[in-house]
Amino acid sequence: MGEIVVAITGASGAIYGKRLLEVLNSHGRDTRLVVSNAGEITLQHECGMSKETLAEMTNSVLDDEKNIGGKSASGSAKIDAVVICPCSGTTLGKLAAGISDNLVTRSAIVAMKERRKLILIPREAPYATIHLENMTKLSSNGSIIIPASPGFYNHPKSIDDLVDFIIARILDHLDIEHQVGKRWTGDEI
Ligand SMILES: Cc1cc2nc3c(=O)[nH]c(=O)nc-3n(C[C@H](O)[C@H](O)[C@H](O)COP(=O)(O)O)c2cc1C
Repeated sequence: MGEIVVAITGASGAIYGKRLLEVLNSHGRDTRLVVSNAGEITLQHECGMSKETLAEMTNSVLDDEKNIGGKSASGSAKIDAVVICPCSGTTLGKLAAGISDNLVTRSAIVAMKERRKLILIPREAPYATIHLENMTKLSSNGSIIIPASPGFYNHPKSIDDLVDFIIARILDHLDIEHQVGKRWTGDEI
């Protein structure tokens, strides 16, 4: 199995990236973490932690966003997937335009050209038309868009339940067997 790259950008919802890394670590998956400059601010503001602390507590290899030649951006490295979680409107726009100016965007563009799985977790409210157009373009190019919009049909009791709703969908798309969150059986109503 190859590594999974998790990128945290400056959209609200750094907790999604944190939880994803925790779960991937508990499943024994090798992860690389790259955090954009804006992502460092939201990670500190929302989760009260640095990227170094997050990498250490989840056994992730931490890459510098400025290191454009990092392993996450290698076409020949064994990278299974890139997950940008959360994904800002800025990063969506760069990806839709083919811009790879830091390790987050470069890893994602390499994932596209190598036909690796690229999963984007955008968050904004409301979305501007340009965000929606960019998401349409990226989806058409094979990216999987999982908006940070948890469902309420499983009766979440906590923020952790809401976060896990999204994490479960990401794990499904990474083809990882898991017990995160409840699955809808069709007998609930
Ligand atoms: C506290 C805070 C919350 C933010 N929330 C969002 C958000 O939910 N969605 C978004 O697209 N941008 C949000 N931003 C703005 C991004 O951080 C900004 O557009 C930045 O340029 C993103 O750069 P990056 O994609 O390299 O991380 C937020 C910024 C701050 C400081």
